[in-house]
Amino acid sequence: MTIERIETLAKEPRAVYLALEALNGLRLRGWLEECCCGANWNSHALLAVEDGESIGLIIYQTVDWKNKLDLEIGYVRPDRRRAGVYRALWDELIGVAREKGIPVISGATHVDNQEMQAVMSRLDRQLKWLTYEYRLTP
Ligand SMILES: CC(C)(COP(=O)(O)OP(=O)(O)OC[C@H]1O[C@@H](n2cnc3c(N)ncnc32)[C@H](O)[C@@H]1OP(=O)(O)O)[C@@H](O)C(=O)NCCC(=O)NCCS
Repeated sequence: MTIERIETLAKEPRAVYLALEALNGLRLRGWLEECCCGANWNSHALLAVEDGESIGLIIYQTVDWKNKLDLEIGYVRPDRRRAGVYRALWDELIGVAREKGIPVISGATHVDNQEMQAVMSRLDRQLKWLTYEYRLTP
């Protein structure tokens, strides 16, 4: 498996395709509309590729004024999960941060996304913020 660095998500069709698959997965679970993460088409991406097939990605932005990387979406194709693909993408993202001298990587997930929360804990990511919402319509 190799991890490719994509400067602009929108310019790489393989990454766009996987991003749409990821967003659709969130939509089917009812998390897209209220998702505080999302894919910004100008964002950077890391793409995991094996035997010519794109199997996972991380979409992230550089937030200069906060001196951090913000991880917007992480996704691995269902049939390739639990095999270290996301960990490899995460390790590459840490490499990007180190090269840029950026000390923090942030990222959010839905309160019901226990799978992602478990993965974040395994990767030593710390819970630092809780986000509250008030809805004016049901
Ligand atoms: C979350 C997701 C990206 C993880 O990808 P993955 O390639 O299966 O993860 P990895 O195999 O690299 O696992 C990383 C670590 O988390 C652990 N882990 C993976 N899935 C887990 C799960 N469902 N429950 C508990 N731990 C899990 C692994 O054991 C591994 O730890 P280890 O290396 O110490 O053994 C993948 O399940 C996914 O795409 N989910 C749907 C999309 C999603 O909800 N994205 C978040 C949107 S904000």
